[in-house]
Amino acid sequence: MKSADKLRKLRQLQEKALEGGGPDRIEKQHALGKLTARERLEILLDEGSFEEFDMFVTHRCTNFGLEGRKISGDGVVTGYGTIDGRLVYVFSHDFTVFGGSLSETFSEKILKIMDMAAENGAPVIGLNDSGGARIQEGIESLAGYGEIFLRNVVYSGVIPQISVILGPCAGGAVYSPVITDFTIMVEGTSYMFVTGPKVVKAVTGEEVTVDQLGGPHIHATRSGVASLTCKNEKEALLLVRKLVSYIPQNNMEDPPALTPTDPPERADEWLDEYVPDNPNKPYEMRRIIEAVVDGGEFLEIQRMFAPNIIVGFARMNGKPVGMVANQPSYLAGVLDNDASIKGARFVRFCDAFNIPLVTLVDVPGFMPGTKQEYGGIIRNGAKLLYAFAEATVPKVTVIVRKAYGGAYDVMSSKHLRSDVNYAWPTAEIAVMGPDGAVEIIFSRELEKAGDPAARKNELVEEYKERFANPYSAAERGYVDDVIVPSTTRFRVIRALEMLTGKRQTLPAKKHGNIPL
Ligand code: HXC
Repeated sequence: MKSADKLRKLRQLQEKALEGGGPDRIEKQHALGKLTARERLEILLDEGSFEEFDMFVTHRCTNFGLEGRKISGDGVVTGYGTIDGRLVYVFSHDFTVFGGSLSETFSEKILKIMDMAAENGAPVIGLNDSGGARIQEGIESLAGYGEIFLRNVVYSGVIPQISVILGPCAGGAVYSPVITDFTIMVEGTSYMFVTGPKVVKAVTGEEVTVDQLGGPHIHATRSGVASLTCKNEKEALLLVRKLVSYIPQNNMEDPPALTPTDPPERADEWLDEYVPDNPNKPYEMRRIIEAVVDGGEFLEIQRMFAPNIIVGFARMNGKPVGMVANQPSYLAGVLDNDASIKGARFVRFCDAFNIPLVTLVDVPGFMPGTKQEYGGIIRNGAKLLYAFAEATVPKVTVIVRKAYGGAYDVMSSKHLRSDVNYAWPTAEIAVMGPDGAVEIIFSRELEKAGDPAARKNELVEEYKERFANPYSAAERGYVDDVIVPSTTRFRVIRALEMLTGKRQTLPAKKHGNIPL
């Protein structure tokens, strides 16, 4: 064959591979508001940066007539490209080919790029849209999932792993995305569940729709599986680009700094009087976050799950930080089971990837009650404590208002090796709130008092005078300084810059035993 003919043959093969499952199935995909595997990569990656691997791979299955149906690529597009010039490895399920179902060869393509990503220290981004295990294959397919799970685990904390769910994700297949660092879902087209509505009905008698069982809203608000949700695919893929901009390529690198555009000394004077005089009055902690970080830009993670704690990424003087903050405007910012788990996972991500932590505290304590105790608040609260204590990245904490009881210790206190701890003059650091404290320690006196209510008020005022301020903690060095609220941005940036060279290690061990 002449070289021109060989070239023609290559072009024909490439064109065939690019067709995926063919025009009809592509049309069906579009009609559902979904893009094809390659269209998605075009949005995700820098223009022209995608290099594809294994375009000609086909399955080896001979069951149920599949030997006569081979489609180049076998249902997944894999390779590497760049986001803002930084290397990323990608795989993108092609639903138009056997419903994006996972065969042995399909999994081998994914394993190849996962291994390369780990060896070369760059993130893996998986675009999921799949009918699950390739039914005709059976065990080979299950083995393929197992090999992917193994790499998700082994490379966890080594390279960032991000999953975008753009269609079905069911059965054991859900375990790969959920092990990755972030899972992004698209409203209307994506769902995740271990068992679908039909099996649920057969086993429990419960009737639910796909969306009620595993749609984005449920995973964003109830299960906590979704880190972020988006209205459409384009928004989701652009959001991945933004997310990647805050995180380093791997655990050996620092997160990417940008040239600062917001002056570090910028002071928002309104902060000085923002915290309400009444300690029971809520306020919006996000306003403080936005006032303190560069350009007010904050990428919040799991916004709708456990809104009593806020976690997300921002920049301070150009450098990425992980923000953790109690939210007084939801359940008074109390720590409950979900909030503790949410905070712990985020802290551990930041620590694994060298992202400094900035913690803003206004916490009345842990949520009381049987629901919380039966749900494991002891185990779960300990997760957050463990995560902060274990974290060796620079840690800067600002106590804005309440820091009560065990929650004071947990929220990145000095005692958990936080590096720099500041308090606003409005801070109240005590074992518990004035009302509860007075009722416990003065119960006999109150019983005997002629006017118990008046006496209680007096004692509450006395308690507040003694404890509801930051100075007892400052006298002992548990807070390094009491700062003027409007200087918070400047003071935190200076602290972070002072901590740039921080090197702290834990004793050599295989791994700790976080109370899971
Ligand atoms: C092989 C599959 C497939 C699968 C879909 N297809 N799922 N082929 N194995 N798992 C094929 C269909 O035959 C069809 O081929 C094409 O993909 C599109 O599927 P449709 O059913 O026409 O699409 P739609 O109506 O949109 O429904 C999508 C779906 C449905 C909801 C995903 O296909 C479905 O229920 N599939 C089975 C899901 C499932 O039970 N998978 C196993 C889960 S257990 P043609 O040629 O007609 O276009 C699992 C275990 C993982 O995954 C274990 C990990 C440890």
